[in-house]
Amino acid sequence: MPEKYIVNPSSNINGTISVPGDKSISHRSLILLSISEGIGKISGLLESEDCLATLNIFKKMGIEIIKDKKNSYTINGKGLNGLKKPRENLNCGNSGTSMRLLAGLLSAQNFSSCLIGDESLTKRPMQRISLPLLKMGADIRLSKNKTAPININPSKKISPIEYNMPIDSAQIKSSIILAGIYASSETKIIENVKTRNHTENIINYLNGRIENFNNEIIVYPNIKLTAKDIDVPGDISSAMYIIVGCIISKKSEVIIKNVGLNELRIGGIEILRLMGAKIEIKNVKSFGLERVGDIYVCSSKLTGINIPDKYIASAIDEFPILFIAAASASGKTIIRNARELKYKESDRLSVMSEGLIRCKINNILYEDGIEIDGGKVCGGIIDSHGDHRIAMSFSIAGIISKEPIIILNTENISTSFPNFYRLVKDMGLNIEREF
Ligand code: S3P
Repeated sequence: MPEKYIVNPSSNINGTISVPGDKSISHRSLILLSISEGIGKISGLLESEDCLATLNIFKKMGIEIIKDKKNSYTINGKGLNGLKKPRENLNCGNSGTSMRLLAGLLSAQNFSSCLIGDESLTKRPMQRISLPLLKMGADIRLSKNKTAPININPSKKISPIEYNMPIDSAQIKSSIILAGIYASSETKIIENVKTRNHTENIINYLNGRIENFNNEIIVYPNIKLTAKDIDVPGDISSAMYIIVGCIISKKSEVIIKNVGLNELRIGGIEILRLMGAKIEIKNVKSFGLERVGDIYVCSSKLTGINIPDKYIASAIDEFPILFIAAASASGKTIIRNARELKYKESDRLSVMSEGLIRCKINNILYEDGIEIDGGKVCGGIIDSHGDHRIAMSFSIAGIISKEPIIILNTENISTSFPNFYRLVKDMGLNIEREF
């Protein structure tokens, strides 16, 4: 059912909160425990539509996954070769991560499968994964537009490759890794820029073997994954909406507990600090191979910056909300070399540019970036284009807007942050929802 939010200005948002589990780690925990041997428990799993799509796909392939209580699941892993042929197409919904990672894993199975998705996912580029997988000997076929549905047949053999990543993408890297663990010898992946390494971390945690030398990743096959319990930390990408909301409002203080702080995910925090945000990280501890800690943030005055390229990969999902921070800053914020933003759940460069213009924030749109001139955010009607991150970003912009901001098509927020509305409303955001 179409849903919209109406957000009126609010002076502050406050509280000590936690955010739902990390989306990337949730997907990978489900995938890797399903192909481990033995029983593993996941606590803190993100129960969003995207992760539930992955969960249901493994159930369809014969994996027993039992919900113990909210966000807590027990998975009875069947080992590397224990998946069963699904009787129907595997529906990834809106989730690019499910589709791209599973394409790699399914390329190495001894049964056929077909990955499908919703309208938005069916428009997203898939050749970026089919090309390396074809090189590995996979029998994988895309639609004529190089998109889903993705049809996969068993191949005689998965061969190792040496792959220089043409795009900085953890999804492509993980797809190759998940095929590579079935290859006849080691696969080498070379990254130009390091991307999130949760797949590598969880494989190593489960006693598999991935080595990393600078920007080279070596994937060892013939491994046995041993099931272990996984605690999923809070998602830094979800935390960013609250962080920016707090920073741009007049008199706010927020503590976000237990957030994943993997060094390849905190580019958004670094960018905000360069803009002048007061953010502190406390109580850092290690959790498996991931870093977790509490984020302390308060209202801060922001100044526009030239966003350094080195932070793009580690802040890739944070740009819509960073553009709202830029809209509230004094001066110009510029980002270039960020073409990948065009291929997310929407074209996040043009959709954000269009939304900012509706809120009377001047900006110049480039093929690979945007220049935003900070100013007074005015109200307007924003089409989120069904993109969860656009919808949440403009909801947060409502804090500092002079008139109400109305955001259309907010349903997909549930793909990554199911309790967003309740949480921000309880923290003081002046937000209403209409169906
Ligand atoms: C993800 C990687 C990123 C990110 C996506 C989740 C992952 O995509 O945008 O939301 O879990 O691997 P790319 O790696 O394709 O940039």
